[in-house]
Amino acid sequence: MGICPANSVQTYLPLFDKQKKRVVLDYGSGNLRNSLYLHTRGFEVIAVDLPGKTQCSSVPGITLVSPDELKTTNLYIDVTLCTFVLNLIDVTKRVSVFETIAKNTMQGGYLLIETKDVTLRELDSLALLQGFARIHNDTGRFTQIVLYQLIFKKQKISRG
Ligand SMILES: C[S@@+](CC[C@H](N)C(=O)[O-])C[C@H]1O[C@@H](n2cnc3c(N)ncnc32)[C@H](O)[C@@H]1O
Repeated sequence: MGICPANSVQTYLPLFDKQKKRVVLDYGSGNLRNSLYLHTRGFEVIAVDLPGKTQCSSVPGITLVSPDELKTTNLYIDVTLCTFVLNLIDVTKRVSVFETIAKNTMQGGYLLIETKDVTLRELDSLALLQGFARIHNDTGRFTQIVLYQLIFKKQKISRG
């Protein structure tokens, strides 16, 4: 029996392959099902979860990072996955999550969201604010699946 990733990851994998996207951020990685699935397909994976929540402490080839650490980095991520996570994050903290993801995403990189209990309208407003444009979306029986692409990368303004 193989690793079973989220449906959205399987759906968009051919696009990521075709676009030669190779570096993935798995935001809210849980048991690493998406991370492991993509790692075995040759992707470089950075998995993000709350301290003590990542269910594997060390997996060769997968880098584990906390959400607070990610706020301080400027990575060059091709694809961020956020599956079944946003509904667990308080509404007031979601803007900051999108900001952190955008900061670590390459111009042209993707953000793939699969979630329950968050409307497409809210997802659009959070994503558009950070420079993402909606590319595809689909509505499952209980979930929203949305693919965004970063079309406007905000520049870091240095002071002094
Ligand atoms: C339902 S699991 C989904 C895991 C995985 N994405 C999947 O689809 O199997 C939600 C995960 O999000 C993590 N999580 C919750 N709040 C988070 C936050 N603010 N930042 C990062 N991860 C968070 C939880 O610890 C948990 O591992």
